[in-house]
Amino acid sequence: MHLVWYFLCVLGFTSKSFRVVHLDLKGAPPRLGYLRQLLPLLAAQGCDALLIEYEDMFPYTGRLANASALNAYTRKDVKRLLSWAHDMGMEVIPLVQTFGHLEYVLKLEEFRHYRELPSFPQEVCPSNEDTMSLIEEMIEQMMSLHPDAKYLHLGCDEVFHIAACSKCTQRHLSKIYARYVIQLAELVRKKYPGVTPIIWDDMMRQWSPQYISSSPLTSLIEPMVWVYAEDVSKLLPHYIWHWYGKTFKKVWIAGAYKGATLPTSVVPDIEVHFKNQISWLNYIDNTPVQIKGFVLTGWSRYDHFAVLCELLPVSIPSLFLGLSLISRKHKHITQTEVFNIWHSSMRCSPSLKFDLHNLKFEPRYLSSCNFPGIEIYNAILQYLTIKSNIEALDISLTEKKGWMTKYNVDHNYTSPWRILEDYRSLNAHQLQQELGHFKNSTELKLSKYFDQFSINEWIEQKIFPLEFKLHNLRKTMENLIRRDVWPRRPLR
Ligand SMILES: *[C@@H]1O[C@H](CO)[C@@H](O)[C@H](O)[C@H]1NC(C)=O
Ligand SMILES: *[C@@H]1O[C@H](CO)[C@@H](O)[C@H](O)[C@H]1NC(C)=O
Ligand SMILES: *[C@@H]1O[C@H](CO)[C@@H](O)[C@H](O)[C@H]1NC(C)=O
Ligand SMILES: [Zn+2]
Repeated sequence: MHLVWYFLCVLGFTSKSFRVVHLDLKGAPPRLGYLRQLLPLLAAQGCDALLIEYEDMFPYTGRLANASALNAYTRKDVKRLLSWAHDMGMEVIPLVQTFGHLEYVLKLEEFRHYRELPSFPQEVCPSNEDTMSLIEEMIEQMMSLHPDAKYLHLGCDEVFHIAACSKCTQRHLSKIYARYVIQLAELVRKKYPGVTPIIWDDMMRQWSPQYISSSPLTSLIEPMVWVYAEDVSKLLPHYIWHWYGKTFKKVWIAGAYKGATLPTSVVPDIEVHFKNQISWLNYIDNTPVQIKGFVLTGWSRYDHFAVLCELLPVSIPSLFLGLSLISRKHKHITQTEVFNIWHSSMRCSPSLKFDLHNLKFEPRYLSSCNFPGIEIYNAILQYLTIKSNIEALDISLTEKKGWMTKYNVDHNYTSPWRILEDYRSLNAHQLQQELGHFKNSTELKLSKYFDQFSINEWIEQKIFPLEFKLHNLRKTMENLIRRDVWPRRPLR
């Protein structure tokens, strides 16, 4: 395919717009050494800003101390990360949630009374007089570690329970949101002159343009419009886009490079993410909206309580491809050229040729490349093979073959020879050994990238269920073959 894109003549998306990489540290936060290794590579590919979402990895102090995870980064860690980013000429945009997605704070006993709904620790109640001082303190602590920040992302997305408590139900829905965000934004502007507050756009996307246009919000904040779908226009009607363009001086846009497929994904779907980014470029083509920056988001969990999704090292190919696409300075660029740049950024063999379609079905194409994280990328591919073999074994023994089904187990009624034979011919024992080796060797490989807590979490979420499955199959089999006398039919 030699499609030519003309996206850099897009009116509002220029070489001055930021190319932003989102670091979501709320799941499997990388070791600093790994980030240090990555930053120059990101910079070399055109990334000139980081959107850093610390969540509970931020070193909160004072009354907020318990909001930090026990393995949070230290103040010194954060300063080192910021100085490396600074050396690379990158803008750092800290993100602190201020409305919804405050699970890591509101889950705690001492902060439960700030909740909008007593049983859901997601959002603060904007009608509670104390809320603003809590949030102000979070902002203060964040800004004190980012004294040079020019932007502060306030989150404000996915406020699922709004106007739900008895105080709030008496107020008008969109007014509650706008009033609260205006209050926040004014606080930031007053206290930190020169700092521009940013919010995710999804809440206001649902409301009437007239209402928002007439609100002071439009001059206080810059919206970050996020769509991760393959077809941006499906989730973002053009009239909204034009309205944003008329209403806000600058608009940020956000696609994804990981963490947007399934909450349990282990490898990013490069094709879907690439199509999402292309769709964005086409979408903004020829619209006069000023694009402040294009963000590649990389979610580590869907929310504070969710399991881990794709790890950062496994997602480097997807991230580098996204950067190769959005950072090109040429006016015309073909897909082949983007792919060539991508290949060389990942240090793949020049003879390696493939397109996105065959990559989807054969992720091993990248196995011989040499990007930071390749050993984890390869380990995860091996994991997928082991997992599917174990699932196939399970289905074969308990559903396809006729001697270890639920019926056999319920009636303790089987042919010991048949079941032993199936167990042997399906390599159940070898699979168990393979899983054990895989667990040990992967744990060792992961230790270069993550701390022991993240490694333990990953192993518990990904390996334990497979061990459990094998263990149960074995126990069931052993129990069934212990019998050597059987009753007459019919069985009861
Ligand atoms: C943090 O949590 C512990 C245990 O629940 C509690 O004793 C302590 O007072 C809390 N710290 C702060 C600063 O609230
Ligand atoms: C994995 O490591 C554990 C603990 O070090 C050890 O007991 C076990 O034998 C190892 N398993 C394999 C298959 O190497
Ligand atoms: C099946 O029979 C064996 C041998 O009598 C016995 O040890 C085992 O507990 C039985 N299992 C069940 C589930 O009844
Ligand atoms: Zn409320």
